[in-house]
Order: sequence, then C-alpha cells, then structure tokens
Amino acid sequence: MNSAFRPDFSGINLPGRRYAARVERREPKMSKKVTVPEIMASKGQRRVSELTAYDYPTALWADKSGVDMLLVGDSLAMVVLGMEDTLSVGMTEMLHHTLAVSRGAKRALVIGDMPFMSYQASVEQALINAGRFMKEARASAVKLEGGARVVPQVRAMVEAGIPVQGHLGLTPQSAAQFGGFKVQEKTAEAAKVLIDDAQALADAGCFSIVLEAVPSSIAEMITEAGPVPTIGIGAGASCDGQVLVIHDVLGLFDRFVPRFVKRYAKLDEIIIEALAKYKEEAEQGIFPGPEHGFMIGEKEVEKLGKS
Ligand code: KIV
Repeated sequence: MNSAFRPDFSGINLPGRRYAARVERREPKMSKKVTVPEIMASKGQRRVSELTAYDYPTALWADKSGVDMLLVGDSLAMVVLGMEDTLSVGMTEMLHHTLAVSRGAKRALVIGDMPFMSYQASVEQALINAGRFMKEARASAVKLEGGARVVPQVRAMVEAGIPVQGHLGLTPQSAAQFGGFKVQEKTAEAAKVLIDDAQALADAGCFSIVLEAVPSSIAEMITEAGPVPTIGIGAGASCDGQVLVIHDVLGLFDRFVPRFVKRYAKLDEIIIEALAKYKEEAEQGIFPGPEHGFMIGEKEVEKLGKS
C-alpha cells in the first residue's frame, strides 16, 4: 500500500454532518473482485457490507449475495469450533479456514482475522503471521484488534503491502482485561481514547476500522471526522458499512446472541427438521428408496445364484 492510501484523520473536530445525507446509494458491481482502494473510495459514496465466512460453501453463498467483504473472523472459535471464547483459536485453524473461504470468494474481498497472540508479542511476529494469511491462505487483507498499542504492527504490515482492517471498541481478545463482553466507551474519557485510537489506526494506514459495540453517537463522530470507512457491529447506522457474523444472520447459532444482531432467517429450525425427517425415514426403512440405489441386470443376479 503506498502513501496515497494513507488516510487523513485530522478533521476529528469538524462540525457534525449526517452521513446519510452524503450517501448516494449504488447497486453493487457484481462482476469483478472488490479491492482495498474501492473500499476506501466508497466512503461518502455508498455504504459497504461485510459478513463473516468460515468455509467454502458459506463463502460461495455470501459471495453470490454481493457483500463486499468476507471476514474469516476469529469468531470461528465460538460459532464453528464450539470454544468458549476466541482466545484458543490459533494460526493453523485460521489459515485453514481462510484458504477455504478464499477458494469460494470470487468477488468479495477476503480478510483474515489475526488470532490472539499472533501479533501482540512483536512487530516481527505480526508481520510474519500477516504475511502467512496472504501467502498461504490467499487473503487480500488482515484484521487485528486494538488501537495505539498495535500501531507499530499496522505500520509494518502496510509498509510490507499488507492491507489492514482495524478493530476497536469491544475487542473480544481483550475481554478478560475489560471485564467481559460489554460496551466500553460509556464515559467521555473512554470515548476520547477510542477517538484517538481510531485516528492512530487511520494514520498508521488501516483501510477500514471495525467499531464493535460502540455507542452510536461516538461511532458517528468517528465516521464523520475520518476518511477511513468505519464498519459497525453494534455501532449504529451512521457507520460507513456494517458487519455481522453469518451464523447470527442465518440463525445458525443461538448460544450467545448479542443485542446488535438481526436474524434474517432461522435456518437452525429448518436444518433440525430436515435431519429429524432423515432419521425417521432411515429408521423406518423409508429411505433409501429404489431411486437412490444402483441396479445390475437380473441375468447377472441369476448367474450369481448358479455359481
Ligand atoms: O471475529 C469476528 O467475527 C469479528 C467480527 C465480529 C467483526 O471480529
């Protein structure tokens, strides 16, 4: 990424303008691959969409839906691997799933989520692991959590040509430090830190910033003041784009459904009904029917009887 991509975040104190008034809605161009410069240029032009995906079939479906970005989130740990939180998922699992998503995403920009302790220890460690997402898993960008404290890592990645999506607000990898999964920026002091972090990430070269569980008014301030697209999840409608976990959107995971989730389907009910029907038919001998089997000619069967 060259310096032309470096966002100018100096206008943080500009008087508030409603983002919606500046947005000209356009139909997504479905044919060619979405690029990082396109996501950056979308600011103020159209809202962008991002969904998580963790495997080849979901990547195919999400890609056909026309969403701009597919995030192979470390939420993989919880919604796919059944873990309690996101801390224990590692580079091996993340690369494995990111590669599967990359194979299915013909159009959407694929972003690999850097797992806990894959970038915190040192800039060198962060750079090597970010590079693995690009080389081994064919991602087009990486995402990492944190503000000012990850700026050296972001700078090194951007200088190496690795586009980075930032992630602020409720950052699940730091949940232990923050005392759980809850909205953080409820005081002016905390909001100020968030605003400064957003500016620091933008200055370091992030091409977009996820804002998770951030009060809508604060998300609006950051969105209006900065040239970097903000991608909200529980951060209100003023953000430049939205992201959700695909299992939440489809109604596939109900162990923990945050308030900011909107379910667009209840596929878990459809799946359980289909599987129960299969079980019943298998146990009653209704399935398989003749049409599901393979036949050989009667004469051949007779020959068997004679031998
Ligand atoms: O891992 C994830 O799914 C995420 C999104 C919630 C942004 O980080």
